[in-house]
Amino acid sequence: MTVTIVGSQLGDEGKGGIVDVYGDVVDVVVRYQGGDNAGHTVVYEGDEYKLSLVPSGAVRGKIGILGNGCVVNPKTLFEEIDTLKERGLSPDVRVAERAHAILPYHRVLDGLEEDVKSDDNLAAGTTGRGIGPTYEDKAGRRGIRIGDLLDAEVLRERLEYVVPQKRALVEDVYNLEIGEDVDADAFDIETLFETYRGFGDRIEREGMAVNCGDFLGRRLDAGDEIMFEGAQGTSIDIDHGIYPYVTSSNPTAGGAAVGTGVGPTVIGQGEVVGIVKAYLSRVGTGPLPTELGSVDGQTPADGGRPDESELATYIRDEGGEYGTVTGRPRRVGWLDMPMLRHAARANGFTGLAINHLDVLAGMDEVKVGHSYTLDGDELLTMPPTTEQWGECEAEFRTFDGWPDVEWSDVAETGYDVLPENAKTYLEYISEELATPIYAVGVGPGREETVIVESPF
Ligand code: GDP
Ligand code: IMO
Ligand code: MG
Repeated sequence: MTVTIVGSQLGDEGKGGIVDVYGDVVDVVVRYQGGDNAGHTVVYEGDEYKLSLVPSGAVRGKIGILGNGCVVNPKTLFEEIDTLKERGLSPDVRVAERAHAILPYHRVLDGLEEDVKSDDNLAAGTTGRGIGPTYEDKAGRRGIRIGDLLDAEVLRERLEYVVPQKRALVEDVYNLEIGEDVDADAFDIETLFETYRGFGDRIEREGMAVNCGDFLGRRLDAGDEIMFEGAQGTSIDIDHGIYPYVTSSNPTAGGAAVGTGVGPTVIGQGEVVGIVKAYLSRVGTGPLPTELGSVDGQTPADGGRPDESELATYIRDEGGEYGTVTGRPRRVGWLDMPMLRHAARANGFTGLAINHLDVLAGMDEVKVGHSYTLDGDELLTMPPTTEQWGECEAEFRTFDGWPDVEWSDVAETGYDVLPENAKTYLEYISEELATPIYAVGVGPGREETVIVESPF
């Protein structure tokens, strides 16, 4: 059977940790979208693994696949695999031949477009990994796929078509000089050819190329347990998220079918587990109706709650909500129920894993954005445009807080011994979404999860 793990909010809900928690019985873990914009954390026996492309099953030694829906930067993939090997893991990663490759010019163009957009407050605050430009080329039918790296003739042909277009974009649209303003190698056919043929060679040598749908179909026929590891989250999905402050792929559960070649009927017979952070965190720009405090450069001028900045700092510090690379503070807010109702519908969740319950412990009260008011009407789910979303006023419900307790003991004993007020909070979420709770995260480690039920 299959289990699909999906972020229900804005990314960083703790998806990697849940893949690891349920990973013992899994045979293959498959990423179906996104690329090295993701950062998935697994903490096991005090060791922390930050995984960007390598599927989180690697910590348990499971086969990992980057499905056709992914965009893969071979350079960062190999660096990550080599680093994990140095740390004693043996990542077995396969890459779909249909997946698209990120090239150096994609990263350059990602940065250039964000700069231009920032003048009009349209920048999404991307991770700068070239994700958007690579998906653009995929949709524009000028992309270069992993399979193309294995064939010198095809690779050269593709580069000869696309690179002059990228050069023209830099020179004639952005009015920049290649070699002066941007790295010349990123726009040089010969250099790109040599580098990417080298990557292709290694992929071939290490037997990493795979026909994803066919491979998974055979594994499912043989009775394997397959886990689909979503990256990002529903509200930054290109179709169902807060466009244009989104990523360029479909983290929602439907993406698992399109992004791997396993049929939706097969995936629908399995389980779809929504990963929920017990509050909100956001890396990037755009509105956020339940935001507490504000973060310079990310919170819109008329957004946030500057009078609650002390509370925001408290949650940010308790939850470690600082960028892993830059150390920049992340935006934080109360849980947003309209966002979760939207996610439950769009993904068809069969179960929930609610993480970071420990982070909210010790507070007198915990609030939840239960609904929105927009033009005098009550809304229980997200409106269709981001502009309307920005106009929404969150209507809060207040819950009594719960004490900080010995969370590892709670995880070991089980759900019943969670503090009563915490259970009231969890059961409210479960009832509003009409979805059972499968797990509750009470700390970052594998052993710090209260398991109620396994989706397998
Ligand atoms: P992902 O992108 O969804 O996989 O999530 P990230 O790894 O980017 O961010 C989640 C962060 O919270 C990581 O540092 C995790 O180790 C940590 N984490 C996950 N679950 C919990 C939890 O229940 N409690 C606490 N305190 N931290 C958690
Ligand atoms: P994981 O898988 C949180 C955000 C970026 C930006 C927008 C577009 O760890 O949950 P992109 O580089 O994808 O074009 O950026 O999406 N973003 C994420 N935010 N978690 C992530 O991944 C993210 N991946 C992208 O901050 O606003
Ligand atoms: Mg993350």
